[in-house]
Amino acid sequence: MNLKGKHFLTLLDYSPEEIEYLLDLSSKLKKEKHEGVSHKHLTGKNVALIFEKTSTRTRCAFEVASSDLGMHPVYLDPSASQIGKKESIPDTARVLGRMFDGIEYRGFEQTIVEELAKHAGVPVWNGLTNEYHPTQILADFLTIKEHFGRLKGVKLVYMGDARYNMGNSLMIGSAKMGLDFTACAPSKYFPCDEVYNKCLEIAKQTGAKITLEEDPIKATKNADVIYTDVWVSMGEPDYIWEERIKDLLPYQVNSKIMENAGENCKFMHCLPAFHDLKTTIGKSIYDKFGLDALEVTNEVFESKQSIVFDEAENRLHTIKAVMLATLK
Ligand code: CP
Ligand code: NVA
Repeated sequence: MNLKGKHFLTLLDYSPEEIEYLLDLSSKLKKEKHEGVSHKHLTGKNVALIFEKTSTRTRCAFEVASSDLGMHPVYLDPSASQIGKKESIPDTARVLGRMFDGIEYRGFEQTIVEELAKHAGVPVWNGLTNEYHPTQILADFLTIKEHFGRLKGVKLVYMGDARYNMGNSLMIGSAKMGLDFTACAPSKYFPCDEVYNKCLEIAKQTGAKITLEEDPIKATKNADVIYTDVWVSMGEPDYIWEERIKDLLPYQVNSKIMENAGENCKFMHCLPAFHDLKTTIGKSIYDKFGLDALEVTNEVFESKQSIVFDEAENRLHTIKAVMLATLK
């Protein structure tokens, strides 16, 4: 498998075999990390990490993975750089491409990361855009494989805002890897026709099942994994909370939903999650709407069925695999 020089912008650009390869490489790197086996395969290389939106997991995963691989990461905060204000994306791409071996970008429209990739001359990795979050899916699928021993046929139900980065990317990943995927939401939060139709086409080849369902009880019956994400994503306006709460509260992952799925069902979330009052946003939502949890209750989040921290750890190993495969 040779992925050297390839961008990582959306899983639509990767074949099932390539995704499998990245997952296997992630497992190998994870084992080596746990056993203290050094894997500095990219010593002397440098990578630029651009974050136009905030991050804990993705940034830390790119930084720690870079250092584990022997590379030097440089974090670029757009408020302290020229990006966008004084320098266009094509110009930034050409400058960074002369100094760095790879570039990570987290930000707004997918067209921005595509433009960066077009001009950089080095691999560009999507660390989250409005439309896609492909590195997250690798971590999610590695976690599912670790818990279920397989991806094919695993019944994955995504609850909530399915028309944004996580809904789209989980559906694409599921189509590619043969999962039984359901997006469960009110119809106005279903993925757009373009991405949905692409996934249906892919599913014909892989045996995946792609379903859109409005009824949470019907959707979650016998699910292997129930997955959710925040109801308001980064970059969306605060005033939208009221509408989202009204629309999505019936899709909250709570004990009734988990019981309906069955005791072997796992709970997953890309994180960060609003499950208690220990965050400023969580508190202000409580003051305004009287809700002590949003997309997932604290009971489910803290339950034995929740594998969210395995998933978070796997961001490191999978991001490392993406950098290694595309740079080595
Ligand atoms: N899941 C995820 O991308 O987390 P961060 O926003 O903290 O990077
Ligand atoms: N949908 C969320 C994902 C965060 C990892 C967001 O874009 O904010």
